[in-house]
Amino acid sequence: MSTVKCVGILTSGGDAPGMNAAIRAVTRSAIYNGMRVKGIYRGYKGLILDEIEEFKTQNVSNIIQRGGTILKTARCVEFKTPEGRKQAYDKLQEHGIDALIAIGGDGTLTGARIFAQEFNFPIVGLPGTIDNDLYGTDTTIGYDTALNTIMECVDKIRDTATSHDRLFFVEVMGRDAGFLALNGAIASGAEAAIIPEISLEKDQLAEMIENGFRKSKNSSIVLVAESEVTGGAMGVAERVKKEYPQFDVRVSILGHLQRGGSPTAQDRILATRMGVAAIDALLDDQRNVMMGIQNDQIVYVPFSKAIKNDKPINRDLLNTLRVSSI
Ligand code: F6P
Repeated sequence: MSTVKCVGILTSGGDAPGMNAAIRAVTRSAIYNGMRVKGIYRGYKGLILDEIEEFKTQNVSNIIQRGGTILKTARCVEFKTPEGRKQAYDKLQEHGIDALIAIGGDGTLTGARIFAQEFNFPIVGLPGTIDNDLYGTDTTIGYDTALNTIMECVDKIRDTATSHDRLFFVEVMGRDAGFLALNGAIASGAEAAIIPEISLEKDQLAEMIENGFRKSKNSSIVLVAESEVTGGAMGVAERVKKEYPQFDVRVSILGHLQRGGSPTAQDRILATRMGVAAIDALLDDQRNVMMGIQNDQIVYVPFSKAIKNDKPINRDLLNTLRVSSI
């Protein structure tokens, strides 16, 4: 039987659509199971600064459809120091919080892992990031919404690309991962994607140009994953201007609009399932695990696995994109 009586919840790092649905599910499931809930604002930063409020079920009413996070978020440098983490621990003690649910990406879970080990404190993580770069889960909260946003943007860019017979490089987020670029390209019918995972294996730009773009059209759209290894859309476009001056090139960087918007049904359902499962995990005496989803089943992924391993792309998708864009 779990000894957890009061659970703290926070969102940290880059926000992701669906975080509110997760906050709602965690809060309601904790209350349903007889626990108290404390909402911690601005992630680890707000924990250190004591921005903590008791949450009742009505604190999370009418938020499932909202993007962003009602708990706000921050990237916290202090939590990377032992002194900062000690301050955070003291605040948890002061507020009687005996377990923490941390919603965020790689940085959030890395912090959670160190903290949990240092203070032997129970933490359960939820993968909240548009990047989909956490190992051990098929998808992350926010990824589907961001993919849909990318698809809608590319649909619009295509109109002008076609009118002007232009080659467009559209940069998408993902930090060092190419999931948004690769699946975004498939969903939007783009000609190609340039992703970090295979940047060291081959010159993706040269290969694309040598193979020739789609024969039936004079315009082309290529999705480029932001990252030092790909050079980003600007880097790729500069190269084209120098090495292949016959193309009329334009760049569009989608940026933070990919992080906003109302979450899709898929993200709301995923966040709700994971939020309820996180409380079940605590009741089950699980500690220091991230909730994952594999083949539609919720699984527990140890923090060490979720953050330490590079999540591989599905290489079949490279072929899917190649074949579908001839
Ligand atoms: O991790 C989510 C993410 O949106 C990445 O895709 C991107 O590289 C980064 O956050 C941007 O961070 P910030 O909002 O701090 O500029």
